[in-house]
Amino acid sequence: REVYVEGSFVSEHEARISVFDRGLLFGDSIYEVTAVIEGRLIDNDLHLARLERSLGELEIPMPLSKEAIVEVQTQLIARNKLREGVIYLQISRGIADRNFGYAEDIKPTFFAFTQARDISDTAALRDGIRVAVVDDQRWARRDIKTTMLLAQVQAKHVASQRGCKEAWLVEDGFVTEGASSTAYIVTADNRIVTRANSRAILPGCTRRAVIKVADQLNLVVDQSRFTVEEAQNAREAFLTSASSLVTPVIEIAGRAIGDGKSGPVTRLLQKTYLDLAL
Ligand code: PDD
Repeated sequence: REVYVEGSFVSEHEARISVFDRGLLFGDSIYEVTAVIEGRLIDNDLHLARLERSLGELEIPMPLSKEAIVEVQTQLIARNKLREGVIYLQISRGIADRNFGYAEDIKPTFFAFTQARDISDTAALRDGIRVAVVDDQRWARRDIKTTMLLAQVQAKHVASQRGCKEAWLVEDGFVTEGASSTAYIVTADNRIVTRANSRAILPGCTRRAVIKVADQLNLVVDQSRFTVEEAQNAREAFLTSASSLVTPVIEIAGRAIGDGKSGPVTRLLQKTYLDLAL
């Protein structure tokens, strides 16, 4: 695989990052993940807009213009002949001797790589997945997409030990979101409920695209909180992210949702989103 590091495309075996990079030492860095299907970037404008916002919140400058970042992504797709998978981008505050404080003029580090994998035709999309319920132990600025992901790593590990593919994180009895996805339920009166954007969750790019699709289909989207119990009693549940698209959730903390299969609203959103994205 060829990866991009600081202006060059090199073999993954030759790529180097300093041990003094603040991304490694402090998690002082931002990332983005964009899906690639049929060699094309999905919802990439939304991902680059969020990248710019996340960096702005931490006062890290954009390392390149958005157009130049798209060129890096396009080159990575071509050089690795990527048909389907993801492109990962990471920008850290930069390299300096280890101190919590940083100089204003520090230069950001930018690297990126591809991961080839099936996205658009998977068992998870067809049959749905189980999710575990785990306490949300993250910090208070979850709207910023930082690489400080230990709470998510632990939540996913607990989920996996319970035979689940994702963890739904819970705070004050309400679901915030998945460890790496946005959470939704469909109520008995056919409302799609997903939490409103705030500092408590990452504003999902797929969330934004799927809400637009739902509006076009005249489906009602209620941006409010739901409890674990409401989720377990919902007619349908699903999650979204760049890499999981619209994935049905068929079980929450051991309890089957609806008839335990992918539901009609989920399937309609899944198909319409994918058709429009391509
Ligand atoms: N995760 N919430 C969290 C906490 C996430 O980490 C993600 C994405 C999402 C969904 O955002 P989007 O629809 O823009 O991908 C919600 C990525 C895929 C990851 O960490 O790999």
